[in-house]
Amino acid sequence: MSIDRRTLISVLPAVGAAIPPALATASGSASPSPSSPRQRIRLDDGWRFALGHAADPDRDFGFGDFQRTFAKQGRGVGRIGEADYDASGWREVTLPHDWAVELPFVDNARFTRNPADKDDEDLAAAHGYKPLGRGFPETSVGWYRTILPISPTDAEGRVALEFDGAFRDATVILNGYIVAQHHSGYASFGVDISEFLNTDDQPNVLLVRIDASLGEGWFYEGAGLYRHVWLVKTSPLFVPQWGVFVRADRDGRVEVDVELANRRDAAAALTIEAVALDATGALAASAKTALSVTGWRTETASLACAVAAPRLWSTDTPNLYVLRVTVREGEAIRDVYDVRFGFREVRFDAHQGFFLNGQPLKLKGVNNHQDHAGVGAAIPDALQVWRLKQLKALGANAYRAAHNPPTPELLDACDALGLLVIDETRQMSAAPESIDELRALVRRDRNHPCVMLWSIGNEEPQQGAPRGAKIAKAMAREVRALDPTRKITAAMNRGQGEGITEALDVMGFNYHEDRIEPFRLKYPDMPIIGTETASAVSTRGEYARDDKRAVVSSYDVDAPYWGKTAHAWWSLYNAKPYLLGGFVWTGFDYRGEPTPFNWWPSVSSNFGIMDLCGLPKDIFYYYQAWWRDDLPVLHLLPHWNWEGREGQPIEVWAYSNLDAVELFLNGRSLGRQAPPKDGHAQWTVPYAPGRLVAYGFKNDRVVLKAERRTAGAPARVILTPDRTQLVADGQDLAVVNVRVVDKAGVVTPKAAVRIDFDLAGPGRLIGVGNGDPNSHEPDKATFRTTYNGWAQALVQTRKSPGSIRLAARAEGLAGDAITLSSTSG
Ligand code: GAL
Repeated sequence: MSIDRRTLISVLPAVGAAIPPALATASGSASPSPSSPRQRIRLDDGWRFALGHAADPDRDFGFGDFQRTFAKQGRGVGRIGEADYDASGWREVTLPHDWAVELPFVDNARFTRNPADKDDEDLAAAHGYKPLGRGFPETSVGWYRTILPISPTDAEGRVALEFDGAFRDATVILNGYIVAQHHSGYASFGVDISEFLNTDDQPNVLLVRIDASLGEGWFYEGAGLYRHVWLVKTSPLFVPQWGVFVRADRDGRVEVDVELANRRDAAAALTIEAVALDATGALAASAKTALSVTGWRTETASLACAVAAPRLWSTDTPNLYVLRVTVREGEAIRDVYDVRFGFREVRFDAHQGFFLNGQPLKLKGVNNHQDHAGVGAAIPDALQVWRLKQLKALGANAYRAAHNPPTPELLDACDALGLLVIDETRQMSAAPESIDELRALVRRDRNHPCVMLWSIGNEEPQQGAPRGAKIAKAMAREVRALDPTRKITAAMNRGQGEGITEALDVMGFNYHEDRIEPFRLKYPDMPIIGTETASAVSTRGEYARDDKRAVVSSYDVDAPYWGKTAHAWWSLYNAKPYLLGGFVWTGFDYRGEPTPFNWWPSVSSNFGIMDLCGLPKDIFYYYQAWWRDDLPVLHLLPHWNWEGREGQPIEVWAYSNLDAVELFLNGRSLGRQAPPKDGHAQWTVPYAPGRLVAYGFKNDRVVLKAERRTAGAPARVILTPDRTQLVADGQDLAVVNVRVVDKAGVVTPKAAVRIDFDLAGPGRLIGVGNGDPNSHEPDKATFRTTYNGWAQALVQTRKSPGSIRLAARAEGLAGDAITLSSTSG
């Protein structure tokens, strides 16, 4: 997109002036400066929630009381929309909130109309057996109610609501007016509510009705206001939602488009200043321009500047800048809008692979859905960051948001941590609503340095067909118009080279690696990325497939027919330099799709490198060994408790990137082996209880030791928080891992011990989990049974500071307690 140079007034050099620290702001999300009229208030607290009814208006709070229609706005909902409605019977909730995860698991029999209908069962299994949709009208609709913090001075400006996402079919009702209806469960949206506000002393009642009867995916999706909601207050001269687009290249050039809305009758003569601030808040470059906007119009100004010797963004050094746009009318500041951005260059080469800032980089990616133990789809920001840190520890450098727009806070965290992202829309369609969702995705996310590719679909039925090509081209046109800087891909499992191919820049292969070479003959210049690989399955702590117990082995041996083991896919992709890299299905287990046991009682997947709690499975260390060049790795499997199998052979594997590994059982050497590249070392060991020890050698020196010891009876519970210093903001959170050990401190690898938690102080236990794909224990509870020795508790702060104490009790075992310190700001 070329910059309109006529509007460019000045390009100023960096002068190093001190400007307030650049803040760790999310894109356009800050309340940036005290002199700005802009306020962005996160509406996480003060909500009330009640279930409605999907099939009976009388039991759905008389929705549309007035003649049961939308006949009259301002009375678009019954008594619950009125200020004096007594909502004390509704439950207090804090966002993000997923009511699906609070519901019990429901036996398949209740989903299946016709027991012979296999599709019914598949669908229920795919979504994780939660009572939503057909047959469950009484748990499929949820109502949220709050009073907005509006003051009389807000009458002078504009006020908008912004939803990071809501699952799904949201009807937003303010003071009895239906102000928005939004179907997508994933696309962010905003609505200007200025005209509907009470700016006297009358309360402003906001209701959001969410109908999760229909899903959009074939996986667990949650239900409700599972992402943040924001209240945005501005002057009538303001930058609209996602109204700044920053393009920054490797050489320091910055081009900026700024949209300006004038929501008053009089024209406005505005000056627009854009300054680039580095991580210390120092001014790195600036530009200014002028723009007139007539009443009730929106115009775009373009500016450019250059940062000398920019600190580049990369996966190792995720340097970020802030672009601060200040809008003035005369001397008066009308708006200040911050956008975080980075300088970087991505290049996809069909012959040499992927390049970041001119350096080759194999993409070591993971696909993920968006749910976690204890909280479902409602992932607090701190947990989001924790999850991404586990992926960084694994050695992943890329993340695919499968198969939907992620919450924007996830992208903020990927920017900050250095993870490249494939950002994917949910619907592959050229219908206006789907195009709107796609446009919202691109407009929202195009400033994130982490976003490297747009994905317009996944395994769509139309992928190989001419009609698919038409639709994909229509979508690609929209994407390129909004963001000419990024390439487009789609994840295809059939028809590569046909159908939608011609609309794409980068071919996404889902599995079917045997079709890669034939495709290259046809499209030799099209780069190829493994949008989905592996789909290998393992259950944490299990070492044999057992269909009766619905568990799969943690040796890397099992994958469905379309997938491959970790060893098989990674060694294949790693051996071919022209392949950009691949994305494992998946980084974390997720609810639903309990492959290979797509039937009751299995409720979550086995695909993860980590389980639903983010606890590592053995395969974590395979990837870590071959993905982390900076870390010596040595990991032994299995555990060493094989009572009753004395003398029988046990396969022992070592994942290591060292030169050699020597294994000892009870002090006796079983030989030294060099783990083959992208493989593992392996011994067959007649079982005897005791100590299995491995030494890892680098240049003939021992650099690492790994050990598996036969554990005795469970004796003690140990709690380990990821952090003990928390912020008392009602959002921050500690991930507390729980393990059961014997009296010597060795994890008891089969322990299924009920742990009861007691929490004291200004905190909340917001969820528990254990990573068992067959567990039907509640996520919202004060207890959890350990699965193969481990469980997890999530402790969130409240807004008041203090010490939070979490204690764990287990019958017959010594308990444990930890103290978390929660301080303000
Ligand atoms: C793919 C699909 C994913 C997931 C995966 C399981 O075909 O795109 O969403 O279902 O299979 O292996």
